[in-house]
Amino acid sequence: MARGNHLLIVINCTIAALFFTLHCIGCTAAVRGSSDRDGKGQWQLLLNNTGVVAMHMALTHHNTVIMFDQTEAGPSGHRLRRRYNGTRCTDSRNDLADSSCYAHSVEYNISDNKLRLLGLSTDTWCSSGSFLSNGTLLQTGGHENGARRIRLFRPCGGNDTCDWKESGQSLANDRWYASNLLLPDEDRVIVVGGRRIFTYEFIPKQYSNEGSFDLPFLHNTYERSEGGNNLYPFLHICPNGRLFIFANRDSILFNYRENRVVKHFPRIPGDGSRNYPSSGSSVILPLDHTNSFERAEVMVCGGAANGAYSAAREQGMFLKGLSSCGRMVITGNRHKWNMENMPGPRLLSDMLLLPTGDVLIINGAKCGSGGWNNARNASLEPYLYHPNKTLGRRFSVLKSTRIARMYHSSAILLPDGRVLVAGSNPHNRYRFNNVAYPTELRLQAFVPDYMGSQHHQFRPSNVTIHYGHGDSNGVWYGGEFNVSFWLGRKPSNAVEFTAYAPPFATHSISMNQRLLRLRCKTLVRGKGGWVLAVLEAPPSPSVAPSGYYLLTVVNGGIPSLSQWIRIL
Ligand SMILES: *[C@@H]1O[C@H](CO)[C@@H](O)[C@H](O)[C@H]1NC(C)=O
Ligand SMILES: *[C@@H]1O[C@H](CO)[C@@H](O)[C@H](O)[C@H]1NC(C)=O
Ligand SMILES: *[C@@H]1O[C@H](CO)[C@@H](O)[C@H](O)[C@H]1NC(C)=O
Ligand SMILES: *[C@@H]1O[C@H](CO)[C@@H](O)[C@H](O)[C@H]1NC(C)=O
Ligand SMILES: *[C@@H]1O[C@H](CO)[C@@H](O)[C@H](O)[C@H]1NC(C)=O
Ligand SMILES: *[C@@H]1O[C@H](CO)[C@@H](O)[C@H](O)[C@H]1NC(C)=O
Ligand SMILES: *[C@@H]1O[C@H](CO)[C@@H](O)[C@H](O)[C@H]1NC(C)=O
Ligand SMILES: *[C@@H]1O[C@H](CO)[C@@H](O)[C@H](O)[C@H]1NC(C)=O
Ligand SMILES: *[C@@H]1O[C@H](CO)[C@@H](O)[C@H](O)[C@H]1NC(C)=O
Repeated sequence: MARGNHLLIVINCTIAALFFTLHCIGCTAAVRGSSDRDGKGQWQLLLNNTGVVAMHMALTHHNTVIMFDQTEAGPSGHRLRRRYNGTRCTDSRNDLADSSCYAHSVEYNISDNKLRLLGLSTDTWCSSGSFLSNGTLLQTGGHENGARRIRLFRPCGGNDTCDWKESGQSLANDRWYASNLLLPDEDRVIVVGGRRIFTYEFIPKQYSNEGSFDLPFLHNTYERSEGGNNLYPFLHICPNGRLFIFANRDSILFNYRENRVVKHFPRIPGDGSRNYPSSGSSVILPLDHTNSFERAEVMVCGGAANGAYSAAREQGMFLKGLSSCGRMVITGNRHKWNMENMPGPRLLSDMLLLPTGDVLIINGAKCGSGGWNNARNASLEPYLYHPNKTLGRRFSVLKSTRIARMYHSSAILLPDGRVLVAGSNPHNRYRFNNVAYPTELRLQAFVPDYMGSQHHQFRPSNVTIHYGHGDSNGVWYGGEFNVSFWLGRKPSNAVEFTAYAPPFATHSISMNQRLLRLRCKTLVRGKGGWVLAVLEAPPSPSVAPSGYYLLTVVNGGIPSLSQWIRIL
């Protein structure tokens, strides 16, 4: 009885905060169920014009989305009255064509569907990023004046006017098409590779003249005549604290503290490459408490055929992309790529982990390669992949969109379970006419089937996180915390609690994306449909680097709205 009252009070206090996100579910209640023939899920058009191409996209813990493009694309959809340096933008022909008289970054507020302009002062073209443990976005590199820049975006509440800030520090090498990962060590980020750069480095530097470190693996995987095929390498942190690096077709386990390759994994099969400009994608599959988070498996999907980049550029031929995916366990001592096929060829796609533990493959094309205007045959249907089903039954084809999302598009998961889809611009200027794939500024959400109203009765609602006394800022590694939620009917036997690290998405790679299935110690169903679960936080920063995660209650495959939880 006492507990019930306590719960009610706590939950009443949170209703205001929940209101806006709940309203998103309200929208989808109107979504009609679709027949299997059409493929599952729905598409929503959110905005006709984001103004800037969402070449890069990331969700902040204030439930806003940072989007940005390169800064040298000329006129975007948002003209400025003043440049970043304060000088006025006139109607002269020069100023009308001057990139610096236009915004190239926006912040999108999910709940009111509105944009706010942000200011970038150096070029972020093909750059990378990671959230730090306090929720600040650290963003690195780009092109020319941006190649060695470090920028910070500290998200803020509605009335503040936070914006990009250039850090006083800079990178040791140019980082254009490099990858970025937050390490288990407190707020240390590794930046790997880049165009013609075969090194990695850390931010912040640990000693004053710390530079970059050679990584011969990047040399060995570089395919000069094909635009590299090892740019934007895939990075995942293994639960044993080692770094998994995948480039082109090869991968290593790397001890970054000792600058030492621990092992070389077998080469992934398939007649093509997986990294930029071949632009396949990769996830680390959900880590699970049932094996103490000790087992990690990566998955790599799609990419371009051998020679696809030069065929597109030199002959205007668009070779069919790769259909194959490989899965390999990167922990333990037995490593083998287990191969399977997607329903079709695919590259330039985003691969997202959903709260259910399934993998969504969305955006991209069937033919060609990454790079300006090098791809054809948009992949309009997302694929859903169920890692646990038997081989041959894991993929399903979902509802297709009408909007092509080619090179320089991106997709991220939102706290309400939808997937935000934006961008595409295979041209180095904004071009809307007389091209195969015009610059795309429409913003869409893909609404997975699990959000359909037919599932509402199974959906846990009013999810509230209760931190222990004195730890009101978050949960400690291995610590206990409680989650209460409401469910009108008895929870299924398969209630799961997942924690999701939101990625920095660009160029088909979702840097820092991670999903954990947390241990539930007890689950008690109280009066009136309230359920209280006692959960255990992940055991260590190697399993879950410190930061903001989305906590979701998943009842028999139907997710709640997610709530932010900070792992300290
Ligand atoms: C859950 O929250 C919604 C809106 O925040 C509120 O209307 C509803 O009454 C709550 N449910 C319960 C069972 O308290
Ligand atoms: C987008 O534009 C179309 C055509 O002008 C219009 O019908 C639609 O309402 C607009 N949608 C949004 C979300 O603004
Ligand atoms: C401001 O930026 C513009 C465009 O980059 C440049 O031409 C101009 O010289 C700058 N002015 C000042 C005062 O820095
Ligand atoms: C987070 O940490 C970074 C790096 O130490 C710092 O620059 C930033 O201001 C901090 N942000 C917040 C919200 O405290
Ligand atoms: C987003 O919009 C909502 C509704 O207008 C507002 O309450 C909230 O403060 C906004 N959030 C941010 C971070 O701007
Ligand atoms: C935010 O701005 C709104 C409208 O200007 C105002 O009513 C509200 O009090 C402000 N909130 C805070 C916390 O400053
Ligand atoms: C897959 O299997 C694991 C281990 O049996 C289980 O914990 C997990 O819930 C399953 N995942 C899905 C998506 O069904
Ligand atoms: C790509 O589109 C062309 C023209 O519509 C078509 O002939 C070809 O079969 C398509 N290729 C694939 C792999 O879908
Ligand atoms: C979590 O729930 C348990 C069991 O009801 C209780 O003993 C504990 O104090 C709660 N902890 C927090 C942090 O709310």
